Amino acid sequence: MGSTPRKVRTAIVGLGFGAEFIPIHQRHPHAELVAICQRSRDKLDELGKAHGVERRYESYADLLKDKEIDAVHINSPIPDHAAMSIQALEAGKHVMCTVPMATSVDDCRTIVELSAKTGLKYMMAETVVYAREFLFIKQLANAGELGQIQFVQASHQQDMDGWPNYWPGLPPMHYATHCVGPCLALERKDALEVSCFGSGRIREELVGKYGSPFAIESAHMKLKDSDVVARVIRSLFDTARQYRESFDVYGSKQSFEWQLCEGEEPVLHTAKRPEPEIPAHVTVPDFAHLLPEPIRCFTTGGVYDADEHQHLSFTQGGGHGGSHPHLVHEFVTALVEGRDPYPNARQSANWTCTGLLAHESAMAGGVIKKLPEWSFSS
Ligand SMILES: NC(=O)c1ccc[n+]([C@@H]2O[C@H](COP(=O)([O-])OP(=O)(O)OC[C@H]3O[C@@H](n4cnc5c(N)ncnc54)[C@H](O)[C@@H]3O)[C@@H](O)[C@H]2O)c1
Repeated sequence: MGSTPRKVRTAIVGLGFGAEFIPIHQRHPHAELVAICQRSRDKLDELGKAHGVERRYESYADLLKDKEIDAVHINSPIPDHAAMSIQALEAGKHVMCTVPMATSVDDCRTIVELSAKTGLKYMMAETVVYAREFLFIKQLANAGELGQIQFVQASHQQDMDGWPNYWPGLPPMHYATHCVGPCLALERKDALEVSCFGSGRIREELVGKYGSPFAIESAHMKLKDSDVVARVIRSLFDTARQYRESFDVYGSKQSFEWQLCEGEEPVLHTAKRPEPEIPAHVTVPDFAHLLPEPIRCFTTGGVYDADEHQHLSFTQGGGHGGSHPHLVHEFVTALVEGRDPYPNARQSANWTCTGLLAHESAMAGGVIKKLPEWSFSS
């Protein structure tokens, strides 16, 4: 990048969760937020005025015709992710899309093929692999402090009762990237095969929605070109558990175990010490220093901007482990540098298909399902 770096002209589509990214795109030194898009005019105008975004689209098709937009950041409901990503790639736009990539293996394949054919970049915006806890574990692993990685496991448990539209009855593993992602991202591996069991039973009115009966789905996946096996656990309905996205890593020298409940600290176990000294609580640092200065504040949520005399307030900005600015930074810098973002289209497909095939496995009594070769990055 030279002294006058190129700016990526972006648009954000879907302004529930997506609205939190507006000020991040606006302040990233290599991004220019050109437009925002969502279906209802009132909220579109309200957010446009609040953030000073002049170009506002109610129609996604119209936005895609806008030649001044290089890339779209999609935050629409899950069933629309694949179709909107495919339309954007066909219209010549780079894509960052919230999780999951798609709800079918075929749609994942179409996105991988389109990205390869057009040379346009696709990134699934998986928050967990840019959360401060993950960045901390990755730093320990890269420095060799964990020793040989022996096993990884992740959970994502959430009570989705009362959530609208497509959520009731959703098969747990159809939204598995928050736990599959970190297991694969730690050593940048692909999933090779997966086996999953379903456990318990949700209410009949929920079962009918997707034909998915299980309260909990628990899967093992074998990592490609690795000795490591990973375990992931998901629940969405009729299971008593505080919200938790966790990631544990067991190494030969040190192991990291996620806190049990919100507000506690994780534990680092160190081998070959007297038993009482093996576990120690650790405070996970923030990784804002990895970001350009203007977006560092977004790792911790609401801030007061002294220059512009305004409060930038968020509901989840400091949530998701402070990952939001890291996601935008990864996508934008990948485009400016002409490299693939992480995860790229294939990696996003591999993570998403692991969940989709895990659910198929559970429905077939735990049979092993192989990930498709086109989802392998090497
Ligand atoms: N940690 C995470 O990664 C995380 C957290 C929260 C939400 N999400 C994801 O973000 C997505 C959105 O979640 P939400 O809670 O904001 O949903 P929501 O229903 O509140 O908002 C959806 C938004 O998309 C817009 N939209 C829908 N169809 C559209 C279309 N055809 N054209 C233009 N705009 C359209 C709606 O107008 C609305 O602004 C979901 O897929 C969810 O899984 C991810």
